[in-house]
Formats: sequence, structure tokens, C-alpha cells
Amino acid sequence: MGSIRFFMYFILVFHVIISIQITCCQSRICLPEKQAALFIFGDSQFDAGNNNYINTTTSAQANYDPYGETYFKYPTGRYSDGRVIPDFIAEFAKLPLLLPYLHPASSLDNYIFGVNFASAGSGALLETRQGTAIDLKTQASYFKQVSKVLKKKLGDGEAKEFLANAVYIIAVGDNDYGVALFSNSSTTVVNIQHPQEFVNLVIGNISSVIQDIYEEGGRKFGLLNVGPINCYPIARIFMNGSSLDECQKQEASAIARLHRRALPIMLQELQKQLEGFKYSLTDYYGALTEVMRYPYKYGFKEGEAACCGGGSYRGDFSCGGKRGIKKYELCENVNDFVYFDSVHHTDKAAQHFANLMWTGHNHFTRPYNLKQLFQFSSLHCAY
Ligand SMILES: *[C@@H]1O[C@H](CO)[C@@H](O)[C@H](O)[C@H]1NC(C)=O
Ligand SMILES: *[C@@H]1O[C@H](CO)[C@@H](O)[C@H](O)[C@H]1NC(C)=O
Ligand SMILES: *[C@@H]1O[C@H](CO)[C@@H](O)[C@H](O)[C@H]1NC(C)=O
Ligand SMILES: *[C@@H]1O[C@H](CO)[C@@H](O)[C@H](O)[C@H]1NC(C)=O
Repeated sequence: MGSIRFFMYFILVFHVIISIQITCCQSRICLPEKQAALFIFGDSQFDAGNNNYINTTTSAQANYDPYGETYFKYPTGRYSDGRVIPDFIAEFAKLPLLLPYLHPASSLDNYIFGVNFASAGSGALLETRQGTAIDLKTQASYFKQVSKVLKKKLGDGEAKEFLANAVYIIAVGDNDYGVALFSNSSTTVVNIQHPQEFVNLVIGNISSVIQDIYEEGGRKFGLLNVGPINCYPIARIFMNGSSLDECQKQEASAIARLHRRALPIMLQELQKQLEGFKYSLTDYYGALTEVMRYPYKYGFKEGEAACCGGGSYRGDFSCGGKRGIKKYELCENVNDFVYFDSVHHTDKAAQHFANLMWTGHNHFTRPYNLKQLFQFSSLHCAY
């Protein structure tokens, strides 16, 4: 008798749990707010040290002084005096700092918060610095491994919910265009004389990686476009004295603008095709040009020259003295600068861009900002 009562009680409780879940799906308020994870893909803009663990050149590594000198007090592999953009995004999302995927301590326990797959020097195209960086497709294949582990550990249902709630951020493209234009690489797949075709390949490959992540269960994506490449100190060293208007007219900046036009069209297309797909696109090209032009407006003093390096604009990429040129200069007040080395940003500038991605209700980030993507949990009851 007792066991039957217990059984009835059990059925009742079970029934109540099920009804609560169903009500939740309709009202979308009563399930406890789950922490959405952050998965990071792309190039040096986002790399937190994956390249420390691959066989590459010192040009593709930043694991020596003075990188890391301000925030971490030691070189972590980030191309910055301190943090890179995803470090701030993780902080805003109340997540811990996310480890590079190849870091020995990165494991299942911390995949619960996400992980960082980005690799300095990498591109959307396999051919971009092949062999010295982890290309975007390979990064996506690492993510599939993680997803497999999560599905095994959490079960399919919970893993699906976890992956749908996570946010996936991607910064890629700069190296595809930069390498094709600034090196006479025989591996360039497309004649750069046909810029639109080249841009279509890059965009096509980004789209295909987003679809791979979607297949695994990803729904919320945050992207950056590509900056005005000829205006980076590393490019301007060759044209000392030219204005910001002039470097924007040059070839690589013009291709970056083709990319800037094509990226939102691709994302809108995916939104039409893929159920539940949401994105946030930050106009890095526009935002960077703005802060380079008006550094004082955003709390900087120098928007065009780098803090660390040599030559005009400190654009010779010698920061750290390990890339062929031994002698380099280092500025005194790093927080005055938008660029730390000849290509990459200071901790303070990374924070500026992370803010734009997170809260940007201005014209630089649309249609959603990352804060909104983190808050969406419409897929909580989708399974
Ligand atoms: C790293 O690359 C160098 C040069 O390509 C090669 O000689 C060396 O064997 C590689 N090391 C490993 C561990 O793959
Ligand atoms: C590319 O090749 C051209 C012609 O061969 C040469 O003038 C130029 O300096 C080369 N550029 C680089 C970056 O190697
Ligand atoms: C991706 O890039 C490769 C070259 O690396 C190209 O052959 C392929 O067509 C591209 N894929 C898409 C979908 O555009
Ligand atoms: C341009 O070159 C001149 C002479 O080498 C140098 O004095 C000046 O500082 C350079 N300008 C910039 C912006 O680096």
C-alpha cells in the first residue's frame, strides 16, 4: 500500500514538473536564468594564446615582452599590452576569462563557460598563412569536438539547449585580404585583380563556418567586419605623411569596404534560411576609422601611430624585437594609444570596441548588440 502511495506521489510530482516546464515555455519567465557560454573564433584580434601551442613563427606569436605588460604583467600570447576584445565580452557577460582551446588546462569543466579557438594570422581561407595559423574551418572542427564532448557529458537535450543559448563571436578577414595584397604569395587562390570574387570567397567561407556551427546547435552569432587595412600603422609606414582619407582610398581598404558591404547581406540571407538564427554585426571599419580620426573624443591622444614599434607610425612591426628587427620603441602612456603594435590594439582600445559590441545601440552595431544576444533565451524550451 505504502509503495503504491509513493508511486502515486511520484507520478504527481513528475506531472507537476512537466506542467511547470510547459507553462514556462509559454510564459518564458520561470526557468532559472542560465549562464550563456561564449565561443570565440577568428584571428589575432581575438586570440588569447592558441598560437603559443602551435609550431609557427615569432611573427604569429606575442608570447614575449612587452606584450601583456599592463593587465596580466606577463606575456600571454595576446597581441595587446593587456586584454583583447573577447576578454571584455566575457567580463560583461559575467563569465571568467576564457582559455585558449589549446591551453593544457582547457577542458570539459571550463567548456561550460565557453572556450577560445582564435588564432593569430588566420583567415577564412585555408590558404591564408597555411601552416602557421589555425584557419577558421579547423577552428570550427575543434568546436565540433567540444560539442561532441558536451553532448556525451550533458546528454543531447541539455547540450542542445546549452549550445543554442551560447554566443559565438567571429573576427576574421583582415588576414585574407592583407596576405593576398601585401605578400606576393603564390598560394593566393584568386587573382586579386578581381576583388569582388575574392571577397565572395571569403564571405562564402565565413558563411559556411557559421552554418557548421549552426548545425551543431549554435544560434546566436556576433561578428566584426574588416578594418581600413591600408590605414594600419604597418601599412602606413610605406606612405609617411599621407592622410587618413588617402589610406582609405588605397586598394586593401577598398576591398575591406567590399567586405563591409557583403557581410550584412550574407547574414540577412542566413537569417532567412536558418530557423532561430540571430546575429549582431559590429562595423569595425567604421568604428576604427572614427576613433583614429577623433581619438580625443574617445579618451585617446594618438589614433594613428602605434605605441610599440619603430619607423613612421611605429609601423615596422618590430614590437618585442623578435621579428627580425631587434630595436623598437615603447611609448610611455599606453592608454593614450589606439594601436599597441603596428596592427593590434591596446587594452583600452579593445575595451572601446568590446563596449560597442556589447551595448552599441548606435549605428556601429546592429540589428542586436551582444548584450541582447546573451539575454535571449527563447530556445530554452525548444526541445
Ligand atoms: C616545426 O616546424 C619546423 C620548420 O617547419 C620543423 O623543422 C619542425 O620539425 C616542426 N616541429 C614540430 C614539433 O612539428
Ligand atoms: C611583389 O612583387 C613585385 C614585382 O615582382 C615587387 O616589386 C614587390 O616588391 C613585391 N612585394 C612584396 C611585398 O614582396
Ligand atoms: C572557400 O574558399 C575556398 C578557397 O580557400 C574556395 O575554393 C571555396 O569555393 C570557398 N567556399 C565558399 C563556400 O565560398
Ligand atoms: C614621417 O617621417 C619623418 C622623417 O623620417 C618623421 O620625422 C615623422 O615623425 C614621420 N611621421 C610619422 C607620422 O611617423
